[in-house]
Amino acid sequence: MIRLAAPDISEQDIERCAAVLRSGMLVQGPNVAALEDAIAGFAGFGTCAAVSSGTAALHTALMALGIGPGDAVLVPAFTFPATANVVEALGARTVLCDVDPGTYVLTPEGMAAALQGHREDAVRAVIAVDEFGYPAPMTAIAALARGRGMAVIEDACCALGSMHEGVHVGAHADAACFSFHPRKAVTTGEGGCVLVRDPELVERVRRLRNHGIEARDGLADFTAAGLNYRLTDFQAALALGQIERFGPAVARRRDLAARYAYLLAGTPGLALPEPDDGHSWQSYMVVLDDGLDRLAVIEELRAAGIEANLGAQALHELGYFAAKYGHEADAFPNASRLYRSGLVLPLHTGLRDDEVLHVAATLKSLIENG
Ligand SMILES: Cc1ncc(COP(=O)(O)O)c(C=O)c1O
Repeated sequence: MIRLAAPDISEQDIERCAAVLRSGMLVQGPNVAALEDAIAGFAGFGTCAAVSSGTAALHTALMALGIGPGDAVLVPAFTFPATANVVEALGARTVLCDVDPGTYVLTPEGMAAALQGHREDAVRAVIAVDEFGYPAPMTAIAALARGRGMAVIEDACCALGSMHEGVHVGAHADAACFSFHPRKAVTTGEGGCVLVRDPELVERVRRLRNHGIEARDGLADFTAAGLNYRLTDFQAALALGQIERFGPAVARRRDLAARYAYLLAGTPGLALPEPDDGHSWQSYMVVLDDGLDRLAVIEELRAAGIEANLGAQALHELGYFAAKYGHEADAFPNASRLYRSGLVLPLHTGLRDDEVLHVAATLKSLIENG
């Protein structure tokens, strides 16, 4: 089976992990600190706090920025639900925005449309998502948000290695959140991190991930209602080598996406994702014409030995958000269409050129022969 995603784990990575296990020092320690430095070094800005998942990163970032009951937060309507679940878990309200049909991400226009009808001070933050690694237009999003006094969070869970206007994603946000889930380009099993420029903010994130503990007069005090969102040291050890290899890994991902774009160009019934030089291509999602049965395409690809799947969700169509907010079914047409017709194809550094050829040829022939 040609896998949708596959982690890039070497024997040396496993050995690094095993060394931590043998040492008996399992919780947050020197490998977590080394991973934090490696991520901040790779991105080229800010300070990094590792946490136990991308969801934990988003949760602690919002907590550290003071989001809570009575606040509203802008979220793109097409994303993995964790982006909005954290808003809801903090007692704030999710204000959905439609996304661009070709890049799948939030635009300033989508934000402006969603802001209409909301009091100037009610919407406290925006979470822009770099969906599948596509770098959201953060300079414009941040300018619009800051003009209204809003905090800017970047859900870069899929976007380690992506660049926006020459700088690594996250640089324009108050806090950028990354995931190290196995579907992502660098993995610790479960894991994530928050990358921020403001040293005080990163200290708040560090306190919140560790039960709210703060050293005071040589004693540990609990100065915030924190959580346990720490990453273990053996998980961090697993990722160190992956970061060392990450430059070439991103280059290979870009090469694979370019191959798909070349091989699938002009296929009737198929819309390809808009390319961007800064895209790190966590996933390659195409969009099928409405007349095509996505489930049947997924099953036929599987029968040909190719794993494929839907992309992300249209949040207003999911049970929780539909029951709470009751949006019209056509409130976010681009998100709905991407949810209904998006198809993610295999993309990982272990994918061979001949396998890309096989995937593209099989998909083309399935579509052309109905
Ligand atoms: C856009 C986005 N946000 C948040 C998350 C949550 O990350 P994690 O699974 O590490 O909690 C994901 C993971 O799939 C994601 O794709």
